[in-house]
Amino acid sequence: MIPPIPILADYGISPEHGFLPDVLPLTRLPDPYYNKWEAVAANLQSLILSKRLRGVIDRLPVLSTIGLEHDAEWRRAYMLLTFFAHGYIWGGDTPQERVPPSISAPLLKICEHLEVPPVSTYAASVLWNFKPLFVDENIDDLDNLATLTTFTGSLDESWFYLVSVAIEARGGPIIPLMLEAVAAARKGDAATVTRCLQGFAERLDDLGELLHRMHEMCDPSFFYRRIRTFLAGSKNMAEAGLPNGVIWDDGTGKSDYVQYSGPSNAQSSLIQFFDIILGIEHRPTGEKADAPESDREGRMRGPTHNFIQDMRRYMPGPHARFLNDISSVANIRQFVESRAQTDRPLALAYDACLAMLRSFRDIHIAIVTRYIILPSRENRARSRSRSPEVVRSRQNLATASKNAAHKKVKGTGGTALIPFLKQARDETSEPAVEKWTQKYMNRATRSTGQNDFFLGKASEEEVVDEPVVEHGLAGTWNIDDDVGGICLY
Ligand code: HEM
Repeated sequence: MIPPIPILADYGISPEHGFLPDVLPLTRLPDPYYNKWEAVAANLQSLILSKRLRGVIDRLPVLSTIGLEHDAEWRRAYMLLTFFAHGYIWGGDTPQERVPPSISAPLLKICEHLEVPPVSTYAASVLWNFKPLFVDENIDDLDNLATLTTFTGSLDESWFYLVSVAIEARGGPIIPLMLEAVAAARKGDAATVTRCLQGFAERLDDLGELLHRMHEMCDPSFFYRRIRTFLAGSKNMAEAGLPNGVIWDDGTGKSDYVQYSGPSNAQSSLIQFFDIILGIEHRPTGEKADAPESDREGRMRGPTHNFIQDMRRYMPGPHARFLNDISSVANIRQFVESRAQTDRPLALAYDACLAMLRSFRDIHIAIVTRYIILPSRENRARSRSRSPEVVRSRQNLATASKNAAHKKVKGTGGTALIPFLKQARDETSEPAVEKWTQKYMNRATRSTGQNDFFLGKASEEEVVDEPVVEHGLAGTWNIDDDVGGICLY
């Protein structure tokens, strides 16, 4: 029996806005019982700036979740408490590994209810953290969006989240469109499949344009030193001052250390939906498409490092389940392959989607180069000239990128950041059916990272063999001048 096509409402997915909630995120919890949380939220940036957030959180009463009624209220509570928690952990000269019961006790209950992990996620910082500026205008317009909460109060941080909100909103209608295509493929209706794929490719083009707008208002150096430092999770954070992770102290005396990745756009269900519906496969990082069976068996013995798959654990439960269920009905690639020889419009529409998604990933690689790789190099150069006392007085992500045990890093069987992203990009075009699109997309691209536009020419000093542990967003990577970076995740 063929599995039924998933119904969006069963997974809390909106036909208009995709994984963004149908009900706009609340700007305030309605029950006055939560006024104390709202008061912290209203002053979050000032409390972080004055380093008084920890004192305030320590004195907050432990509130129950009894006053949370509708899902929108639970979502706001999760968003608020994860912002408080990350501000509490990272908002001092050294990180704080124990999060007190005033945050932990309600947060753990909220996480259970929403099926999300106790850490900030893409859902907390993006999906449930926006409002339209004008309610009668659309939320897929980047110029009609505002954030509800940020750590820094900066335009850069708001922009960083809002670019993703706009991408989610503009990409949302692709979901029902492609479910229509799945149904049409089942009936052998090639004309409808072609039309849906054409609509999909056009919207993907819009998403690339939105992604490119990241450069407009988010300063790379500010992102690297001020925003990323608050988004850090608790996994592989020894260098940044959390050797064991964090303890969500719920007051029972039984809490232990846990480690979670911080929020990353790799947790976007939308982008993973695109891959699944187009039949794009992401192999464990480092594995080639035509790897001999023996190589694959070898890899299976070690950690699989399928970072993209792992990120599903950070998505809201229903969204992750939707992706699983979609995998069992995704039939487009097979449908196109079976007709590619005789139906060129269909083949071209399919390949156009792959080309647009590949181009989206190309824009993203340039962003990562500019927002992480280049500032990481500058940071290294700066920390070499800084006195040890200055470096020691603060400990967080920005001060963490220094020499690391290279052997230990490679011993984890990890992979490099830019090669990881390039592999994901190259896998995007692998299913192309038309000969010329295959040739065009798989042409050898110049390697990013050496003497390119954003990085400038590497100076002699920079190419000294000095591996550096660097925290991307969810992943921890080893940035290496010749390969990009090694993932420690
Ligand atoms: C300043 C902006 C951005 C930076 C610095 C950045 C950085 C990164 C990094 C370091 C990774 C590797 C995984 C990790 O450590 O989390 C990653 C993965 C990823 N990012 Fe971004 N990112 C940015 C914006 C975006 C946006 C706006 C999107 C789209 C909504 C996006 C989509 C992805 C996806 C889908 C992955 C997983 C790899 C893939 O599927 O190709 N990123 N990003």
